[in-house]
Amino acid sequence: MKYEKKLFAFAIHFTRILLPLGLLAIGVAEGAEPGKLNVQVTEPGVRISPTLYGLMTEEINHAYDGGLYAELIQNRAFKDGPKIGEAPDPNHPPHWSLVKSGTADGAMKLDATNPVNSTALSTSLRLDINGGDGCIGAANDGYWGIPVKTHTAYQVSFYARANCDLKQPLTVAIESADGKTVYASATVEGIGPEWKKHHATLNVGEAKSSTNNRFVISAPTGSKCSVWLSLVSLFPPTFNNRSNGLRPDLMQMLAGLKPAFLRFPGGNYLEGNTIEERFDWKKTIGPLEERPGHVCPWGYPSSDGVGLLEFLTWCEDLKMQPVLAVYAGYSLQQQRVTPGSDLQPFVQDALDEIEYVTGGPETTWGAQRVKDGHPEPFKLNYVEVGNEDNFDNVKSSYEKRFAQFFDAIKAKYPNLKIIATMPVRDRQPDLVDDHYYRSAREMERDSDHYDAQAGGRPKFSRSGPKIFVGEWATTEGRPTPTLQAALGDAAWMTGMERNSDAILISCYAPLLVNVNQGASQWGTNLIGYDALASFGSPSYYAQKMFNENRGDRVLPVQLDVAPGKPPEPPMPHGKIGVGTWATQSEYKNMKVSMGDKVVYSSDSADSTDDWQPGAGEWSWDQGTLRQKSNDVNCRDTVGDTKWTDCVYTLKARKISGNEGFLIMFHVQDDDNWLWWNIGGWNNSRTVIQKTEHGASRELGRAQNITVDTDRWYDIKIETKGRHIRCYLDGKLLSDVDDTPEPPALPVYATASREDASGDVILKVVNTEAADRPIEINLAGIDGVKPQALVEELAGQPDDVNTLADPTHVATKTMTIDNAATRFTHVFPAYSVTVMRLKRS
Ligand code: AHR
Repeated sequence: MKYEKKLFAFAIHFTRILLPLGLLAIGVAEGAEPGKLNVQVTEPGVRISPTLYGLMTEEINHAYDGGLYAELIQNRAFKDGPKIGEAPDPNHPPHWSLVKSGTADGAMKLDATNPVNSTALSTSLRLDINGGDGCIGAANDGYWGIPVKTHTAYQVSFYARANCDLKQPLTVAIESADGKTVYASATVEGIGPEWKKHHATLNVGEAKSSTNNRFVISAPTGSKCSVWLSLVSLFPPTFNNRSNGLRPDLMQMLAGLKPAFLRFPGGNYLEGNTIEERFDWKKTIGPLEERPGHVCPWGYPSSDGVGLLEFLTWCEDLKMQPVLAVYAGYSLQQQRVTPGSDLQPFVQDALDEIEYVTGGPETTWGAQRVKDGHPEPFKLNYVEVGNEDNFDNVKSSYEKRFAQFFDAIKAKYPNLKIIATMPVRDRQPDLVDDHYYRSAREMERDSDHYDAQAGGRPKFSRSGPKIFVGEWATTEGRPTPTLQAALGDAAWMTGMERNSDAILISCYAPLLVNVNQGASQWGTNLIGYDALASFGSPSYYAQKMFNENRGDRVLPVQLDVAPGKPPEPPMPHGKIGVGTWATQSEYKNMKVSMGDKVVYSSDSADSTDDWQPGAGEWSWDQGTLRQKSNDVNCRDTVGDTKWTDCVYTLKARKISGNEGFLIMFHVQDDDNWLWWNIGGWNNSRTVIQKTEHGASRELGRAQNITVDTDRWYDIKIETKGRHIRCYLDGKLLSDVDDTPEPPALPVYATASREDASGDVILKVVNTEAADRPIEINLAGIDGVKPQALVEELAGQPDDVNTLADPTHVATKTMTIDNAATRFTHVFPAYSVTVMRLKRS
């Protein structure tokens, strides 16, 4: 679902973090006064779950295809259409182009006759060699290029047949995009009249790393002839040399997090937009020739090269346990299966899936796994039923669907722990999956969410199911988080660690993003890459520091720090705009008035020239602004960032697509704006969303207003000071105040003890602009060694890592020599610090 949508109630409770009352008032202390951190070393608290940190994954942002999955050919089966879900255009297979050399004459076209098979490989590319002298070939541009690395061997495979006796072999090559430099080439003989799979190795010698390259498969001219190609594949070396494997640099980066588990296959990717488009696991196993691929809800096709078995071997390679999410009969476009006999086949599918993962060779699906190349069953502890079923508008639907899955799974696999995606009453799930996408301030303020007590009162009850924080992230920074986001994450992790008796497992989301223009659908993602290289974000390093230094027992801490003075937030103001999300809509008669004065009207001459389109295909036609693409997060804005106290009116009409209208106001820049989201969340909800530093929250309550296609709506937004009123067809639907976010605490801390080493581990997050001296008191032990290992992540709030500067913000390790049972350490401005104190 879109990244703006998550908003959960927050509450400020000071439990283990005690602030002197006098210091709570805003503006008491400017700068950073010395603070105190008391740690009760001899009173160990709850046990920290050894599986607290894992990975969440799904096909989003080209996470697999064009990411972790090492396949380099995009549209290898020639089945992609001009738009997702559309049939291929025979004359324009995406990512393929015709190349000719010399005087060669030829053509290429998709051909559905006589395919390799009629299910997964139902079409092929026909290369017609008509004459001349040279070669006719088909070039593939990969996923934003084909990476060339020095001294690297690439494995090529493809199906081919020909209707003539080719006098010379086919040539396969990796070459620069302009064809001028050939990095590696090989020949393939034996192309006959029947389909046959061919293989070749392309050895790149000494070469500079680059991505602006293509893969070409070409045939010589000579006799008039046609050659058909199917399932054209190119693999670089893979992690653990697995065939159909994963990218080594990304796997190493993931291994660095020491994840305890992998949650797969989603996420929305599990559900699909429609039931038909769900992750249908049985279609993702076996030879690639038999995997049809499917439409992914994130707006591009999935090859399903990463199928169920690849998820499992990925777990095996990184020593993670699988957290298997099974499709639960609900898909994103409000499609659901009725509980009872209609749902039964889906329940059976889930049982089969568990059998595929865990069953012995004597079982039907265990035998299938053996046939697919993995004799050993996998150990499975957790099964999640569905994903985010709180978005199912039929409120009782999940309750009943969950019960049916729960009963069937527990009956056959009583030891499996079953995760519900929202609270349910009729059955007691073992865990409930909570999701949080928020600003840094919200993460910090709510880091005590799961505390058992606040101010001496019960807070988060321990009597219910355990918690799986199955998606969480501070959503500041695009396409990867800023240091400020990492601080929010770290503050949040102090809360998860402290409450690890309730939270057994947790994982950040999304995990992966291809940073090329147009490759991503989600704002903030943990690890970025292109075809060649990858980098971890500051949040990646914060997680690594926390997980590597988790400890086994929580130690109670008392933190006493004075908050600095937060800046006075200005009154809301900004430009206006319109937007769409996987939808084609048009807008006209945009008018902005301030008092009696009309400051903008799209109906005045030349007024349409000033609009500044972002993503999407925006065009004007006789005073109507139209967005045609199916991209998400399309925006077009106009006006003055100083506009305030405005009345903004316009007409809007939906042409096609999943959602409705996004009406923007108070737009400051790409990362700071408001929109009224009418018919959002697959046309199920309408609410105002405010985005600050790229992180969104909702203002006021959402309504179940949906948008009809092909109907003009009248929209009006009035703003006065912080007050906002939104009208649809003259009806007031939202009447809210845009109140500034309350400040968060300046410092967050947690402490733990590691059983094996006896080390006391402190984790301190300083979210403020000033260095903070803190006196650390370790109560209950006689002494610690003066030398202590300190890991530090620090910088400026907006700092990010990029492909060009991958470790701009990264963990620095140092040793201090003044550690004692009472000593002072200065925690740098905007920093995460982990300190290991050794008992003497
Ligand atoms: O993590 C991205 C998406 O956020 C997931 O697919 C979905 O579960 C949530 O809405």
